[in-house]
Amino acid sequence: MMKIAVLRGDGIGPEVIDSALIVFDAITSKYGHQFELIDGKIGGIAIDEVGTPLPDDTVSVCEEVDAILFGAVGGPKWDSVDFEIRPESAILSIRKKLDLFVNIRPVIVYDCLNAMSPLKDTILKNVELVILRELTGGLYFSEPKKRWVTQENIRYGVDTLEYSEVEIERILRVGFEIARSRRKKLTSVDKANVMESSKLWRQVANELASEYKDVQLEHLYMDNMAMQLITNPANYDVIVTENTFGDILSDEAAVISGSLGLLPSASLSIDSGFKSKNMTYKGLYEPIHGSAPDIVGKGIANPIATILSVAMMFRYSFGLVTEANTIEKAVSNVVLQGKRTQDIADNQSNFVSTLEMAKSIVLEIASIDES
Ligand code: IPM
Ligand code: MN
Repeated sequence: MMKIAVLRGDGIGPEVIDSALIVFDAITSKYGHQFELIDGKIGGIAIDEVGTPLPDDTVSVCEEVDAILFGAVGGPKWDSVDFEIRPESAILSIRKKLDLFVNIRPVIVYDCLNAMSPLKDTILKNVELVILRELTGGLYFSEPKKRWVTQENIRYGVDTLEYSEVEIERILRVGFEIARSRRKKLTSVDKANVMESSKLWRQVANELASEYKDVQLEHLYMDNMAMQLITNPANYDVIVTENTFGDILSDEAAVISGSLGLLPSASLSIDSGFKSKNMTYKGLYEPIHGSAPDIVGKGIANPIATILSVAMMFRYSFGLVTEANTIEKAVSNVVLQGKRTQDIADNQSNFVSTLEMAKSIVLEIASIDES
């Protein structure tokens, strides 16, 4: 039987995961699938209960399963603990341990939510892009990475931005493959006017381009990309970049759609090539919004990002494309019908709870006829 690890974590993590699981159950019973779900502790709650944000048994569970559904980690309660045991270090080590080097962050714009976006309607027209972020290299992981004090009592800190051509090539290949399955345009983002790792990145991209002649490759400097993304987002299809640039760009891209509460993500481990069809990968699926300590326990979190992450899980880890499409269609129908959680409600006295939103999506799934 296919296995899924469920890591609820901290903050609104448990609320959004529990709501997404209602949708998960609706899909598995509609299409007659069976999965084994295994709970694991991660983040602040694991620090409190066992003294470490990523207990060994959670790691073993993650190694054993086909997919991981992840809520969020962190919160003010653990802000002052040592960096090594901070909740965030758990997600970083899971990414590294499982070699989840492909991070896919699609940006979906629902026309009826344009008013929620800080961008003008004219700029939001035809936006449909995906940010592909390298997730296990660069500044986040390269050594040296440390702090020290000199004899003169001056404090230093260093992080290293190192990439091998192997790491660059494997993420760029995924970029070319995804671009090939979409509008055949790949935008590679670097800072090749300044940084050596970026010069190598651009060189490898140009070399690969000869294998993907049907895909149009363009290069943009990171600073320019940051500007283009909010002035002309419709111009982009697949944007591929290294870890830190991708971290920054994906937060920027997230606000385009109007709410962080809408956007899912997938982090995949791919050992023998990526194809956008007919292959499955081990993956971790999480909403990109984080633990949102300010709204914990109020029942107002938007579960859509997590529900759409479940759709990505069906698609990428289980090859269940109809199931994924059904979830995505149900979400967009429900949004179109005017169901709003607080973060996407223009009338702040009229919105539904986390659970009500999930239940509306379940109802919608029942009425969708796709097989
Ligand atoms: C993200 C987050 C993480 C990152 C943090 C929580 C370590 O911001 O997934 O984008 O920086 O990668
Ligand atoms: Mn981030």
